[in-house]
Amino acid sequence: MTEILCIVGARPNFMKIAPIMAAFSARGIQAKLVHTGQHYDPAMSDSFFDQLGIPRPDVNLEVGSASHAVQTAEIMRAFEPVLDLEQPKAVLVVGDVNSTIACALVAAKKGVKVIHVEAGLRSYDRAMPEEINRVLTDQLSELLFTTEQAALANLQREGIDPARVHFVGNVMIDTLLGHLERAVPAAQTLGGMPARGYAVVTLHRPSNVDDAAVFEGLLTILARVAERMDVVFPIHPRTRGTAERFGFNSLLECPGMRLLPPQGYLEMLGLTRDASVVITDSGGLQEETTALGVPCITVRDNTERPVTLTEGTNSLTGPDPERIWPVFEEIMASGGKRGRIPEFWDGRAADRIAGLLRGWLDALN
Ligand code: UD1
Repeated sequence: MTEILCIVGARPNFMKIAPIMAAFSARGIQAKLVHTGQHYDPAMSDSFFDQLGIPRPDVNLEVGSASHAVQTAEIMRAFEPVLDLEQPKAVLVVGDVNSTIACALVAAKKGVKVIHVEAGLRSYDRAMPEEINRVLTDQLSELLFTTEQAALANLQREGIDPARVHFVGNVMIDTLLGHLERAVPAAQTLGGMPARGYAVVTLHRPSNVDDAAVFEGLLTILARVAERMDVVFPIHPRTRGTAERFGFNSLLECPGMRLLPPQGYLEMLGLTRDASVVITDSGGLQEETTALGVPCITVRDNTERPVTLTEGTNSLTGPDPERIWPVFEEIMASGGKRGRIPEFWDGRAADRIAGLLRGWLDALN
């Protein structure tokens, strides 16, 4: 019997599901794991299962890359028979990727309850595909687990009954705290610690890397940063692809720039922990830098994770080089914002979720 069918698909899902599966096992919740195959390269998927000790997926839908419509539709088509076969009491989805909304929609239409972990985050920017996935998944969910206080007000504004919302903390930070001791030191990944320190950079948002002018501006400012410190840039496959298409390879190969392939979780954790600054458009890294107390410059115009600004070490600049540079200089001069750890980012979020769900499942029986 399967009580809860858990879904993962893309890289940022794996560090969220790892502590949830472990907590379910500890609480005797019968769970199975479905991988949609949205991310499939070993460096984007398998390495996370190995490093984080996630059980092998019971089912892999092997959907792969495609346009948003085709990818979402293919996941839905492939997931429906799995749901019919398993007949779980609920489907649990995490985060905001296409796999999240696709499986939530299939479950909700079949009358299977949806549980959303990392609910209620809002950038209020519908140009972000993830924002559409977040809003729709929350509307379809029976139980909503949130990572920060602002999420509840967002959900109430959209008419969601607060009785269904539970502030439990951040499962991704459970994984971070649980693996910090095993993080691969940056000196090992980089073949020695750069004497002048280094910045970690990640870029993959369509708004930053699919627009040639914006992408070029970002690469220009990175070249300027590289005059001051090494720039360590694990490059996402989509970013690598657009850089080639736009003919930006020479910009990427400027002095001081160190391009790396996508990194494993433990390597990335070590690189982040030991960095002088992180420059990113990722959602997860904004939170991880706050948890680690490392200064973060987010090259987006908005964030769905405001606690990283109000309590954490994050600064929002947008992609404009003229706005990024003074923030970078300020961080170099003062060490950046002194953050504090947000409430419930304490390594016990997954246990809170499993505890609540154990009671909820028992009440259904
Ligand atoms: C997806 C998520 C995004 C998340 C990001 C983390 C959505 C809408 N977006 O974006 O929220 O921050 O994952 O990585 O779900 N590719 C490979 N190998 C892979 C996977 C992808 O080469 O294993 C390439 C393909 O060319 C593909 C492109 O990357 O077309 C984009 O992949 P996709 O899953 O569509 O979106 P991401 O940009 O990765």
